[in-house]
Amino acid sequence: MKLSNFLLPLLPALSVAQTPSLYTDAKSGITFNTFINPANGFFFGLALPANGTGNTDFIATIGAKGTGWSGVSLGGGMLNKLLIAAWPNAQALVSSFRKTAQYGSPAVATGTFTQTPIANGTYVNSTHWTYTFLCSKCILADGTTFKTADTSASFGWAFNTAAPSSKANAASTVTKHTDEGQVKFDLALAKQANFTMWKTWAVPKVASKFMA
Ligand code: HEM
Repeated sequence: MKLSNFLLPLLPALSVAQTPSLYTDAKSGITFNTFINPANGFFFGLALPANGTGNTDFIATIGAKGTGWSGVSLGGGMLNKLLIAAWPNAQALVSSFRKTAQYGSPAVATGTFTQTPIANGTYVNSTHWTYTFLCSKCILADGTTFKTADTSASFGWAFNTAAPSSKANAASTVTKHTDEGQVKFDLALAKQANFTMWKTWAVPKVASKFMA
């Protein structure tokens, strides 16, 4: 048996590092530096302004195959980092900031940071869901996220095929990820001249205006 024949069957069992690369979402036209996990369909893409001086905002896209939850750590690991957890609820996307000091379902995190959906990049189809949003004041100097001046940064990712127990509620508890890891991003590759235009597409949901 040739060595290659011997090694090939082992490959799927190995954790193959996927390097983030440029990907343009067909619906929104936004170009992200994107990590895609072919094993489970999880993806996380990042776009930053071309001029990053003093910037604390980014545009992100998060999604996966199926109807479970996906999460991202803006600081790499799970503990004491700013997390984002998102999932589909029928045709709507539900998302929240989370933070925890212990392993367990992270509590909702509050601060000056906000996430505002970009509608043309937010959708659920027969195989995937995609949530695209402007994350404002999300790059912090307190060690919970990557920093504005970083040239590369590790992001954590977490995925579960199961939906949270109460998927209409953004504060729902979640069960532990079935798959997780960290991935290093070249932040220069995320910089896009069109960022300032894409940013204007982020519009807060207006539903609450009409709700009792
Ligand atoms: C009940 C809920 C959760 C439990 C019990 C849990 C538990 C854990 C544990 C024990 C680890 C260490 C690695 C391991 O032993 O598996 C870990 C890592 C991690 N978790 Fe969670 N987790 C939960 C939810 C979340 C959520 C909602 C997110 C993101 C939004 C998240 C993101 C991560 C990340 C990024 C890592 C680090 C992966 C790495 O360093 O390779 N976790 N989690």
